[in-house]
Amino acid sequence: MSTRHFLSLLDLSPDELRGIMARASELKAINRSGELHETLKNRILAMIFEKSSTRTRMSFEAGMAQLGGHAIYLSPRDTQIGRGEPIEDTARVLSRMADAIMIRTFEHSKIERFAAYSEVPVINALTDLYHPCQLLADMLTWIEHRGDITGKTAAWIGDGNNMCHSYINAARQFGFRLHIAAPPGYSPDAQLVANAGSCAVLFDNPLEAAADADLVVTDVWASMGQEEEQARRIKAFADFQVNAAVMSAVRPDALFMHCLPAHRGEEVSAAVIDGPQSVVWDEAENRLHAQKALLEFLVAPGASTSS
Ligand code: CP
Ligand code: NVA
Repeated sequence: MSTRHFLSLLDLSPDELRGIMARASELKAINRSGELHETLKNRILAMIFEKSSTRTRMSFEAGMAQLGGHAIYLSPRDTQIGRGEPIEDTARVLSRMADAIMIRTFEHSKIERFAAYSEVPVINALTDLYHPCQLLADMLTWIEHRGDITGKTAAWIGDGNNMCHSYINAARQFGFRLHIAAPPGYSPDAQLVANAGSCAVLFDNPLEAAADADLVVTDVWASMGQEEEQARRIKAFADFQVNAAVMSAVRPDALFMHCLPAHRGEEVSAAVIDGPQSVVWDEAENRLHAQKALLEFLVAPGASTSS
């Protein structure tokens, strides 16, 4: 069987994604119980980070340690990756030594080229196009708090960025509706929206997108690599903050999520992110449990049935 990769949520079937959610809940309970659970004993995860990270590095590294394996951090600054060694060569070398490879980089085409030459599973830990691991955590968080997300409505308020793109794919795979409100010029990729059919709908106005939503989500206005656009973006996004007005449009029991890091006073008010409907800390913790389930699925597919 050919090597499975996780470059986008569309690489797994809806059933496989739901299986990972169920397994993540089991692994979370095992973790809470303190029981030793080493289904990836002696396995190696190589982690290439071409952008900064707190949650992603911590969750993959802690997850591999908890599963009995090991994670190795590689940055362009102190490897040959930063000195121009072809990505195809790096992929072939690392996949001779590691059981899986996680990459955070800029162009999505780079991770696709890497995966084409890798003999072991490649995991997308964020590209300019997608952030699928974050969606595993977000969906797990929804399921824990509210149950099935099928048929629900999520509102994305803000930039049509990598997180928004992964939300569009999540809407397709998990069967919910995504209402997207982005300022002119910052809409998500039109083809991705079209591919999602009725699962993704664009709105001009944040309050209209938020109307009766079950979940409201946002992200930074300037992503990594867009630092020089920060001032222009702050102006363009001024009317797209998730604040009390947006929260008064959503359902009273709606949840608020944000992948973090957040900028209070920009994309979200402090009152919302630190308020009672926010589940951002559960969401951040769930990176750990969801990615452990993903690692088991890709590296040791039989592991969950032996527990
Ligand atoms: N949400 C997320 O991916 O956080 P980091 O950039 O800290 O990894
Ligand atoms: N959209 C953000 C997400 C960070 C986790 C970025 O790409 O910087």
